[in-house]
Formats: sequence, structure tokens, C-alpha cells
Amino acid sequence: MAGLQALSLDRVSKQYGAARALDDVSLTVAGGEFLTLLGPSGSGKTTLLMSIAGFVAPTSGHIRLNGQPIEHLPPEKRNFGMVFQGYALFPHLTVARNVAFPLEVRGTPRAEIEKKVKEALGLVQLGAFAERLPRQLSGGQQQRVALARALVFAPHLMLLDEPLSALDRKLRADMQIELKSFHRQIGLTFIYVTHDQDEALSMSDRVAILREGKLLQLGPPSELYERPATRFVAEFLGKSNFLSGRVERRSADGFTFRCNGLSFEHKGIDAPAIDSEVLMALRPERMRVVEGDDRPRNTIEGSIAEFSYLGTAFHLLVDTVAGRLAVTVPTWRHGGPPAIGSRLTVGWDADASIRVEHD
Ligand SMILES: Nc1ncnc2c1ncn2[C@@H]1O[C@H](COP(=O)(O)OP(=O)(O)OP(=O)(O)O)[C@@H](O)[C@H]1O
Ligand SMILES: [Mg+2]
Repeated sequence: MAGLQALSLDRVSKQYGAARALDDVSLTVAGGEFLTLLGPSGSGKTTLLMSIAGFVAPTSGHIRLNGQPIEHLPPEKRNFGMVFQGYALFPHLTVARNVAFPLEVRGTPRAEIEKKVKEALGLVQLGAFAERLPRQLSGGQQQRVALARALVFAPHLMLLDEPLSALDRKLRADMQIELKSFHRQIGLTFIYVTHDQDEALSMSDRVAILREGKLLQLGPPSELYERPATRFVAEFLGKSNFLSGRVERRSADGFTFRCNGLSFEHKGIDAPAIDSEVLMALRPERMRVVEGDDRPRNTIEGSIAEFSYLGTAFHLLVDTVAGRLAVTVPTWRHGGPPAIGSRLTVGWDADASIRVEHD
């Protein structure tokens, strides 16, 4: 397989008439990295992938592979492996012939084709299925054939556009694990598009959040989840409550903010000016129902408006003077299902809140 390939995008934009599908995107993907593009529908994920692949010509900006510009290269010269949504296998060709196809069009000698197809099918654990037709395979198996076909010619880089979206939940989870271990084994550079935030969090080395063609934030999953820069990122990656308030007092390690007549303490390195407006994000799992002699730094009273049972946890919606707050309570901490309308106090520690920007 090819050596590790680093890819960089330098201020790449794509204009379709009046619409800006990509807006000044710069990023670098390290060799061997698993980078995921995550964003709502229409945010430019496919356009970005297609620009890298060479099927879309950016209106401006540069794309470089190991420092060398590749904009002028047609897709087949870029030598990237691609798996697109829907996986489009040739229905009349066997699994082996499907996988052989990219080698045949490159004029690879027959003996070598046989050897490489065997290797690629082994990698996706479909060695025994070589002579079947696509329709004789399950969705997940077809998906793996598409993957083998993308890998067989030793691509520099793998581009995957929602490759698992057609699969059911269980198969999808299995394939996530397979893809990930596969990435580890062969050490290729992966650029992966998904709508699914759990998939993005669990599989990626880094995640790039896109919105309206702009790159909003790029970082390791834990950094994006624990330190989202904006309200949009906090909401898009996981669930979050938001409290908006005004800075009342500053302390050595944070500040106190006032929100709907209550004061809350925040611990963090940022130090906004007294009286400035702040928006604070609070993850539901960092909040708790206050019971016994537990005394979290911040508390607020409320009543249960809704709850749902999720197996491992209850998800409560609690009406308070600061609005409706979502609180996740592990099931084992709770006797039975909570009663709608019952009063309770919820609380959180000062280091649980995250200061975010409005979008
Ligand atoms: N060929 C085209 N001509 C005109 N506009 C286009 C074209 N391709 C994409 N667009 C527009 O560019 C924007 C980004 O599209 P893109 O397909 O990259 O989004 P996406 O993030 O992949 O969305 P999804 O999650 O729905 O697949 C959209 O507003 C889309 O309508
Ligand atoms: Mg798309």
C-alpha cells in the first residue's frame, strides 16, 4: 500500500451561481489520520470531498498532496480511493470482478489482479464470497465489497461519503468497528463524511464541523465535545442546555453570572468583563438531581415537565425560572420512573459549564 499522504486545503471556495457551497476552507489532514467532516445537510461536505477527489473544481484556493498542488490533476491521476453513498456495485459482475475493475482499467497484468483482489477481499473478510453476484449479498457485505474495490489499487487516500448510511443500526455499529480496525491495520489517510455524531465521535482522530460551507471548528472529538466554541457546535455535537446571563463578579478561577434573577458560578480560564453578556452551555449529563447531603455549587429548583426512559438513563426535562433544562439521570440512581409535575432541585458543579459564542 502507498505511503502516508498528507493533504492540505488552502482557502478553498466553491461558488455555484449565487450560492457558496464552500467558503474559504483551510485545513490539513496528516498522513494516516482519520478525519471526519460533520455538518447538516447542504453544509458542503460532499462538495469538499468531491473537490479533493477532483470531480469538482474549486472556484479559488489550493489543494496540495504532500506539498504538491493537485488542482490540475484529473480524478484518475490523483489515485484516491472512493466510497460513495449507495455503493453502486456492477450488478452483473461477481464480487471478484467488481473488485478487479479499477485494476483492469489501469491495465494491471492478470496474475497481479488475481493476487490483489484476493488480498483486498481477505481484508474485508469476504474471501468466500468472490464468485457471488452483488444481489446475493447483504447490504453490509455489499458495502464491504465497495470498500475492497476502493482499496484494491493502493490509493493514497480514502474518501468516504456516508458509506454506512444505508445500513441498519446493528450492522452499522459492526461496520464502524471494522472500518476503524481496518484503518488502523492499513494506516491509510481517511477523510470520512457522516451525518451521525456518535459515529464521528467514536471513529475519528479529528472532526471538522461545517456549516453553510464554512469550517467552524476542527479538533479531536473530546475537544469539540468538551470545549465547543459556539452554540452551534455545542448543539450539533451532543445535547446541551444554554443559560444566557450577565457577568456579575470575577474571581481568580472564573466568574459568577446572573441569569433570570439567580447567580451561578463558573470555573474556567476565560475572563469576560464585568457586566458583559455571556452564553453558557451545560451538558445534561453534567447536571444532577440534588438529593441528601449533596451540595453542588449551583442549584435551581423546578418541576418535571417530561421524562423518557433510555435504558441506561432517564432523560428529564425540568421547568425552571431559567427555562426548560435537560438532565440525564443514570437509571440506577433513581428508584422508579419520576412523576411528571413533581418538584425537585437540580444542580451542577462550577466546572461543568462551558462558555460559548452566539453564532
Ligand atoms: N452542482 C451543483 N450546483 C448547484 N449547487 C450545488 C451543486 N452541488 C451542490 N450544490 C449546493 O451546495 C451546497 C452544499 O452541497 P453539498 O452536497 O456539498 O452538501 P452536503 O453537506 O454534502 O449535504 P448532505 O448532508 O445533504 O449530503 C448545497 O446548498 C447544495 O445545494
Ligand atoms: Mg452530501
